[in-house]
Amino acid sequence: MKTEVVILAAGKGTRMRSGLPKVMHPIAGKPMLGHVVDAARAINAANIHVVVGHGADQVTDAFADSGLSWVEQLEQKGTGHAVAQALPKLVESSRVLILYGDVPLIAPDTLARLLDLCGDTSMALLTTDLNDPTGYGRIVREFDKVVAIVEQKDASRDQLAIQEVNTGIMAVSARHLNSWLPKLSSDNAQGEYYLTDIITMAVADGVSIEVAQPATSWEVQGVNNRMQLNELERYYQQCRAKELMASGATLADAARIDIRGSLTVGEDCYIDVNCVFEGQCEIGANVHIGPNCVLTNSTVASGSTIKANSVLEDAVVGEGCDVGPFARLRPGTVLASNAKIGNFVETKKAVVGQGSKVNHLSYIGDSELGDNVNVGAGTITCNYDGVNKSKTVIGDGAFIGSNTSLVAPVSVGKNATVGAGSTITSDVPDEDLAVARGKQRNISGWKRPTKK
Ligand code: UD1
Ligand code: CA
Repeated sequence: MKTEVVILAAGKGTRMRSGLPKVMHPIAGKPMLGHVVDAARAINAANIHVVVGHGADQVTDAFADSGLSWVEQLEQKGTGHAVAQALPKLVESSRVLILYGDVPLIAPDTLARLLDLCGDTSMALLTTDLNDPTGYGRIVREFDKVVAIVEQKDASRDQLAIQEVNTGIMAVSARHLNSWLPKLSSDNAQGEYYLTDIITMAVADGVSIEVAQPATSWEVQGVNNRMQLNELERYYQQCRAKELMASGATLADAARIDIRGSLTVGEDCYIDVNCVFEGQCEIGANVHIGPNCVLTNSTVASGSTIKANSVLEDAVVGEGCDVGPFARLRPGTVLASNAKIGNFVETKKAVVGQGSKVNHLSYIGDSELGDNVNVGAGTITCNYDGVNKSKTVIGDGAFIGSNTSLVAPVSVGKNATVGAGSTITSDVPDEDLAVARGKQRNISGWKRPTKK
């Protein structure tokens, strides 16, 4: 049987107090809905239908290119009504997995187990046992068999004591949904069309109700307010931190690292406190990352050190490099092995050769530096004339004196030397010394003005 997924995401999320639709709020930098879609993809769903209502445009725009099928629910008349809006799109022979855009951490393994329990003559519910079941639909059993789900507001005193609750996630054949959903009524305490009422219809039709439970209750935790959003964020980050430690990284504090994307680590990495990793990052063995670093889509090869407060974006750092503290490597920075980028240095589209050093207070943009180049403190590549970006090329072994301006396009030859304070506007040949600065003049006996 093919699996089709229906994700309910039409609710307003009033308690978020936000202009953003609830399912767009991020966990680890990705909208909650994105996490649910990923889980649906992981179980190879044939189609993923998303029921949207409040803020529908914001949701569909954000996921415009993700091949999702959109279903609009103009008025939120309950979970049964929401699923019913998707009925015309469902293939009769498929089984349908119902997920929620605000239950982001559901695990594909759990969904696979649930789907295995759903067939032509059975449907499957994901339930969990809670010490405090308040607010949830209760799972009513007779002789161990599930016979109904009763909502908090419709429950009797005895039913309220039941601790097994409905997570809302279920798997049921499209054929059964087609026959049951049109028969739902809104004659209940909330005046809504409850999806949960299909359970009694299933029982009446002799369809067996199977039950699975998630590996941890975090998987079925919904988000209604920003406190719950934060609880899930912290749980998620804790899981990522454990994975890193299992791969051989030491974390100064497993509670003070945030991974918003994917991070792979080699053995014996050390990551100090308050580092953030975004997008796809990769760090090799024996890499040391100091406190407060932010890495976005960057790679750091083995044996390199990124010192405190450095920011790397779309950067590639070779083996044995030394970066920071307070370095900013912007997109297109590529450091060959053993390069050094020191404090208050900004690089952009800069290829820096082996063993080259830019140790202090520099801007190196649109540049190609050979091997063993030394760039003195305060050196700036003037790469922009207000309209065009131009390139600076510096050959192997060149020495650029402090406070040099390199007015691009310009090149400095191999083993050439530039005197401190120079403004270099034309190419410097290999091995030459270039000095381009006002000549010093000393005036002897000069008297400073004095105050009257
Ligand atoms: C639902 C279940 C309850 C379960 C609980 C788990 C029903 C009737 N009850 O209750 O048994 O314990 O979830 O959290 O199903 N939604 C729509 N359109 C609608 C109504 C809801 O898209 O018309 C979406 C909401 O955005 C939300 C989800 O469905 O993400 C659940 O709706 P909600 O009203 O919160 O259901 P509960 O009352 O919590
Ligand atoms: Ca809810």
